[in-house]
Amino acid sequence: MKAAELEVKYGEYGGYDAEARAGSILSDIGIAEALHERPMREVAPGLKLRVLLAQALFSKPDVLLLDEPTNNLDIHSIRWLEGVLNEYDATMVIISHDRRFLNQVCTHVADLDYQQLKVYPGNYDDFMLASLQARQRVEAANAKAQERISDLQEFVRRFSANASKARQATSRRRELEKIKLEEIRPSSRQNPYIRFEQRKKLYHSAVSVEALSFRYPGSQHDVLRKVSFNVHAGERIAIIGANGVGKTTLARCLIGELKPTAGEIIWVENAEPGYMPQDSQADFAEKVDLFTWMSEWTGKADDDLIVRATLGRLLFSGDEVKKSVKVLSGGERGRMIYGKLMLTRPNVLVMDEPTNHMDMETIESLQTALELYPGTLIFVSHDREFVSGLATRIIELKADGSIEDFTGTFEEYLAAHPLAA
Ligand SMILES: Nc1ncnc2c1ncn2[C@@H]1O[C@H](COP(=O)(O)OP(=O)(O)OP(=O)(O)O)[C@@H](O)[C@H]1O
Ligand SMILES: [Mg+2]
Repeated sequence: MKAAELEVKYGEYGGYDAEARAGSILSDIGIAEALHERPMREVAPGLKLRVLLAQALFSKPDVLLLDEPTNNLDIHSIRWLEGVLNEYDATMVIISHDRRFLNQVCTHVADLDYQQLKVYPGNYDDFMLASLQARQRVEAANAKAQERISDLQEFVRRFSANASKARQATSRRRELEKIKLEEIRPSSRQNPYIRFEQRKKLYHSAVSVEALSFRYPGSQHDVLRKVSFNVHAGERIAIIGANGVGKTTLARCLIGELKPTAGEIIWVENAEPGYMPQDSQADFAEKVDLFTWMSEWTGKADDDLIVRATLGRLLFSGDEVKKSVKVLSGGERGRMIYGKLMLTRPNVLVMDEPTNHMDMETIESLQTALELYPGTLIFVSHDREFVSGLATRIIELKADGSIEDFTGTFEEYLAAHPLAA
């Protein structure tokens, strides 16, 4: 090739304005001109990513691959990056753990799990919803298949010895063999799947507390003093207050574990409260394995499959279910209690610091479960994020044993109590 031809090609590829273009890209993404000719090591760590991005954008790619681009970035830089990516016209494949960021920039989410990639349209929140619904469909199908299995088994059991029905029994046995339940595997992201249902729906009221006082034996003062409130069905009440003020005591009185010194707690007739204690050690004192422990909470219609499925949803699987409940960690004990409440389907949940010991994924799952729970929720929590996401009413316990009863969200409560914020 001749020099003249090369020059033409160089021009076609934009060689002559390359420097100018590099300069303008760098300026556009916030690198001061004084730095343009300086070596990389002089660029502040937070700005390095911008230079790398400029490098990637320089060749005007049609496809941009970004691996954890928000790592180490402060909130302002992340905001900036979101803006740049949203303006830039190219196909992008972005790997990230940052939910907010994904929601801002993604049009599709590809979920990589168990060696399989599934693409969902929409941003991260849309994806979460869609994968949840997909899962619920499988569960519903399984429940239906399970019902059919029980019917067929019953028929076969009753009639296989009966000569006139033997043929029908055989054909049903065949049908039985063909029904397959789809396996529901917990995601390898380790988000437990928590759902609470209620066996019976409550209308109007759940429980009323009337002039409740409580004093521990041998103590000089009342932890609770003439506390009164009514809990309506469907409410989500957060009980808040300083350490040692009596929140756990109130919860234990509610579920009948402690007997009031004075006053009364009156549950409506159909109320079936379920309780998650702050300290669940006592619930796991017996030396039984996880499977046996969980089996205790099944209803008449439930079988081993449901126990196993429940344990699986709570991320206990394989041989793990054979270990003794005595060795469980605090967080694992908490998940077992969630399982108990999933199986017993109470219509009032009394939960004492249910997010204690829990990792982010579990807290997220629990919060979703409680948002969807159709029953009544009374919970003690110090977790502001959790309280503000759930509470429809706040009961604050005071040091003198009285309460402040506030109807509204946590934000409204904070606005009404500037000092508490
Ligand atoms: N079994 C008991 N016997 C005597 N006093 C008790 C007993 N249990 C709790 N107390 C006392 O009663 C008060 C209220 O305790 P409680 O456990 O209800 O507080 P809490 O608000 O749940 O605190 P935290 O936020 O730390 O969980 C505390 O002063 C505590 O020391
Ligand atoms: Mg407590």
